[in-house]
Amino acid sequence: MTVSGGLSAAMEAARATVAAQIAGAIGDAPGDLAAAMRYALAGGKGLRGFLVLESAALHGIAAHDAAPAAAAIEALHAYSLVHDDLPCMDDDDLRRGQPTVHRKWDEATAVLAGDALQTLAFGLVAEARCPDAARVALVTSLAQAAGLFGMVGGQAADIAAETATDPLTLDQITALQAGKTGALLTWSATAGALMAGADPGPLRSYGDKLGLAFQIADDILDVEGDAATVGKAVGKDAGAGKATFVSLLGLDEAKRRAAALVDEACAALSSYGERAETLRDAARFVIARRN
Ligand code: IPE
Ligand code: IPE
Ligand code: MG
Ligand code: MG
Ligand code: MG
Repeated sequence: MTVSGGLSAAMEAARATVAAQIAGAIGDAPGDLAAAMRYALAGGKGLRGFLVLESAALHGIAAHDAAPAAAAIEALHAYSLVHDDLPCMDDDDLRRGQPTVHRKWDEATAVLAGDALQTLAFGLVAEARCPDAARVALVTSLAQAAGLFGMVGGQAADIAAETATDPLTLDQITALQAGKTGALLTWSATAGALMAGADPGPLRSYGDKLGLAFQIADDILDVEGDAATVGKAVGKDAGAGKATFVSLLGLDEAKRRAAALVDEACAALSSYGERAETLRDAARFVIARRN
């Protein structure tokens, strides 16, 4: 699939909005730490920031008001990648087509850049322009999505699974992936509803399905992609003993599941009608992407 014109333009605009917000926060601060943070924030697809801005637009919230929340999730995501690539985690040398932060600088800089990106994220999300109660909901739900019961918990399960004696069950892999990848994507999709004080249910359902489909696609790219296109090393998951839908079900069934999840994600937005078509395109993009 080629990315639809509407989606491609919306993602490009979201990346520019996030970049401007980040520039305001870090600017040209001197030193290796600030340089490593800027570096870690550059070159991604910007999917999570886009989801924040798109779900905000769906609820009548202007990009200007949602921009701090969009930048926050991209900073948090960047931190998760910098730490994910460390030698004590996935030990990767390439990210977004460039040397990983610990390869370009050193491990201490990568740990600290990740730490500072995380605190930057919470500072940014607290600046979202919405009523106080909504802003508190945004901050507490981000803390939930990022931590023990979300991304970090999922990352711990991912690492533990590498040395588990028995292969994980489908339910266990689903829970692992919902944490390590799904939680931040679901938060992104629900952010607009939270800011507006609206029911986040439909967007939560959309985000949960999209998040799982996204990680299945990532696991498929690890098998079928080439590093030059994907922008990171491929063919590593099996050797590392990663627990993935592909390792458990094989490529064909993993692809079927991902496609079914995308259909479910699109259907979850029925209450928004045609206005959610860009988000539906984003769900389709998630499994069609080549990087
Ligand atoms: C990569 O996420 C990490 C996973 C959760 C699989 P993305 O594929 O969204 O990474 P960037 O931000 O576009 O580089
Ligand atoms: C990482 O999953 C998800 C994060 C929380 C960063 P992966 O380890 O599969 O992500 P990649 O393949 O390195 O981007
Ligand atoms: Mg990992
Ligand atoms: Mg990794
Ligand atoms: Mg991966």
